[in-house]
Amino acid sequence: MSEHIVLDEPKPTTDDSTTRRAFLAAAGAAGLCYLAALGYPVYRYLASPSEMASNATAITEVTLKDAQKLAPGSALMFKFGTAPAMLIHHQDGTWVALSAVCTHLGCTVQYEPQANRIHCACHGGVYDPRTGANVSGPPPKPLKLFKVAVNETGVDVSRT
Ligand code: FES
Repeated sequence: MSEHIVLDEPKPTTDDSTTRRAFLAAAGAAGLCYLAALGYPVYRYLASPSEMASNATAITEVTLKDAQKLAPGSALMFKFGTAPAMLIHHQDGTWVALSAVCTHLGCTVQYEPQANRIHCACHGGVYDPRTGANVSGPPPKPLKLFKVAVNETGVDVSRT
């Protein structure tokens, strides 16, 4: 006849479980800080300037005083809400207003009348200065066009 000896498993004392809980809480907090540190740059990357500018739609109209005096073949940069925009007075007397935020990664574009184009210096994107269409380079979408009303005291630009 053999005898079996059964030993009781050691039970954690209250001090052990409190220490373990405190350790897990500290590890969880450190993990959250680590995720936040990793996640914030990703958030900033995804919320690119062009996206943020497209969200700046609270203002629907802006009046540009004395802009009716803009010489043909030149452009005027202005802020439409928080985003840069441009008013172009073409040589043939027509007026165009567009967003000046490149649809690629959000750089501010420039009008180049001698080349008859709107150019983004960041990565070489080119847009049509009459329609805002993306002509070449990396921009995936056209520039947003605005409505223009010229009067004797200025130019009113509004979202369509
Ligand atoms: S941001 Fe304009 S072409 Fe890249």
